[in-house]
Amino acid sequence: MTGPDWREAGLSHIWLPYTQMHTASPPLPATTTAGCRIHLADGRNLVDGIASWWTACHGYNHPHIRQAAIDQLARMPHVMLGGLVHEPALRLARRLADLLPGDLERVFFSDSGSVAVEVAIKMAMQYWLNRGQKARTRLVAFRGGYHGDTLATMAVCDPEEGMHSLFAGILPQHFITDLPSDDQATAALERLMEAEGQHVAAILVEPLVQGAGGMLFHDPATLRRLREIADRHGVLLILDEIFTGFGRTGTMFACQQADIVPDIITLSKALSGGTVPLAATVARRHVFAAFLSDDPMRALMHGPTFMANPLACACANASLDLFESEPRLEQVAAIGMQMRDELAPCRHLPAVRDVRVLGAIGVVELERISDMNRLKARLLDQGVWVRPFRTIVYLTPAFTITKDELGHLTRAIRTVLAEAP
Ligand SMILES: Cc1ncc(COP(=O)(O)O)c(C=O)c1O
Repeated sequence: MTGPDWREAGLSHIWLPYTQMHTASPPLPATTTAGCRIHLADGRNLVDGIASWWTACHGYNHPHIRQAAIDQLARMPHVMLGGLVHEPALRLARRLADLLPGDLERVFFSDSGSVAVEVAIKMAMQYWLNRGQKARTRLVAFRGGYHGDTLATMAVCDPEEGMHSLFAGILPQHFITDLPSDDQATAALERLMEAEGQHVAAILVEPLVQGAGGMLFHDPATLRRLREIADRHGVLLILDEIFTGFGRTGTMFACQQADIVPDIITLSKALSGGTVPLAATVARRHVFAAFLSDDPMRALMHGPTFMANPLACACANASLDLFESEPRLEQVAAIGMQMRDELAPCRHLPAVRDVRVLGAIGVVELERISDMNRLKARLLDQGVWVRPFRTIVYLTPAFTITKDELGHLTRAIRTVLAEAP
């Protein structure tokens, strides 16, 4: 079906994410994407400011990734990984191990960020079980954090902003505290670790940027402190780089800016260049070693049906080719500079609390957004696809965005925020 028919026929059957279906205004019908543009069924052509939840780092429909997908589709779109392996997965695993710092070298594939974090949590807990330490069942995670929507990951999200209160009594209990960004918060974390360290399996954090929690930035020193605290108390450090991985903060991985190596890292979103779902949980050598035994029960008991889907791995390999052949990190730096210049005037607007930029992430934080629907509608009027949430208006464009397209996005934000948001 074309035109409005498919929309009318399907809308009363689809259940949309994070949406009060009773009151929400109808979603916009997208028909095609190209580069940094989203085309709508009504003919509008929007400049995309968020790269589909931070995934499409090379823009949409990049010909190199498209060709890799077509070739793989013809050869083998899917085969189970149980008992079988295939070239796209093995090549991707080796390439990720080469790219990641230190001895992060054992790659477990899955199909979404939440599952990658679930696997990391399970890995950390079983690591201790396999080593005979049964009491290490809790995690330390941080206010402002977001790690996914499944039950185990909800339990390590920010307790205020996540769904902790709604699901109180259902979620496993972990230690959620402040990031050790200042002396007071560091002392509090130290006290927590002194008192409870023997029950902690791992510290879990999004490095440098807590994304869905409000694009909150912290410095590399905070990460180094976490590595040091984890080492001193003998617990694992898990970095969730699902948002920050693959160049978004200016380096291939955010942890490189702190010069630390986590014990486990999670990747997704831009891993496949934003084309097909794919995620990975990558462990260091010593973590993997704890699962090696003559006892089959010490194996990692996990195996998503579509893990290491060949089509997704082929797209991810093509995406890594582009990081090698095109100047992505230079593009990130240029995007950062342009956003710094062009979002700076927002600082003088009365409703603006903060303007911050890191890598290719630009954030304007407001005191409050009194009419979110109106704000979204006004941004659309400017021909841009920008999705404010909570009190922030942010840009995470594709790294291939042109100067003009980025200028269009920043101008739209300046214009709309100059009206009362
Ligand atoms: C840091 C982080 N971890 C985990 C997730 C969950 O990923 P997914 O939505 O693919 O399950 C997200 C998604 O936004 C994320 O930003």
